[in-house]
Amino acid sequence: MTRVAVVTGGTRGIGQAISCKLQQMGMAVAATYNGNDANADEFAERTGIKVFRWDVADHEACLEGVRKVEEQVGPVDVLVNNAGITQDGTLLKLAYEQWRRVIETNLGGCFNMAKAVFEGMKQRSFGRIVNIGSVNGQAGQYGQSNYAAAKSGIHGLTKALAQEGARFGITVNAVAPGYCDTDMVAAVPSDVLAKIVSRIPVGRLGRAEEIADGVSFLCTERAGFITGSTLSINGGQHMY
Ligand code: CAA
Repeated sequence: MTRVAVVTGGTRGIGQAISCKLQQMGMAVAATYNGNDANADEFAERTGIKVFRWDVADHEACLEGVRKVEEQVGPVDVLVNNAGITQDGTLLKLAYEQWRRVIETNLGGCFNMAKAVFEGMKQRSFGRIVNIGSVNGQAGQYGQSNYAAAKSGIHGLTKALAQEGARFGITVNAVAPGYCDTDMVAAVPSDVLAKIVSRIPVGRLGRAEEIADGVSFLCTERAGFITGSTLSINGGQHMY
């Protein structure tokens, strides 16, 4: 049986690696993006993965987008809530708009997408939802009150939905990446990043594929007894 997976923010960075990994495992993948058409077209061309553009912060757009995916690809069995943005700044400099946008995208997006797929998963008695958290949601990070709050919220959302989904065959887990070699991390000032990397026991940034390997396992049939858990993949930067 071909499973259908939706990966939000699935055309770049960690999301791209997850989309490709799930495709390699035989799933029909729909990757969403919001903005970079040229990159998404190149990704679709190169991988054969269908791409869909909508803003995960927009509740109605998520409901409509999932309807389109279901028409064009099939009923959604697997959801990876990966889409996320950063708007870093210390509280004194952070504008309300930067707070709102990050919370509505990173945390609101997970709610919106779960809402769009949960009923169908329940009816078909199978679902895998993996929410991408962050080491910075677990440990906090200077200059990221918005991002850390959103990512920390994802961990709570995961545990609540895991309890609700369990009796319907829906598992809900989180993967908490550390600092990886993506565009998002490349935007951190190099001196600040060097200090962060110096505190990672493994001594380097993670690779997007290393996150995708963990995520993909949680999306399999074999992972049916794992729910409400958080898999930290951070080179030992934070252990709990
Ligand atoms: N703890 C304590 N003090 C710190 C600190 C820290 N971690 N980092 C900086 N400071 C101090 C500085 O030394 C500086 O002190 P002085 O005024 O005495 O010189 C003061 O705080 C101001 O710091 P900045 O000059 O850095 O302030 P800024 O306003 O120019 O920049 C910032 C603030 C934008 C948040 C910048 O520090 C930054 O980009 N930090 C990195 C944030 C980060 O790690 N983002 C992760 C993005 S990737 C991601 O999020 C993916 C993921 O999930 C892992």
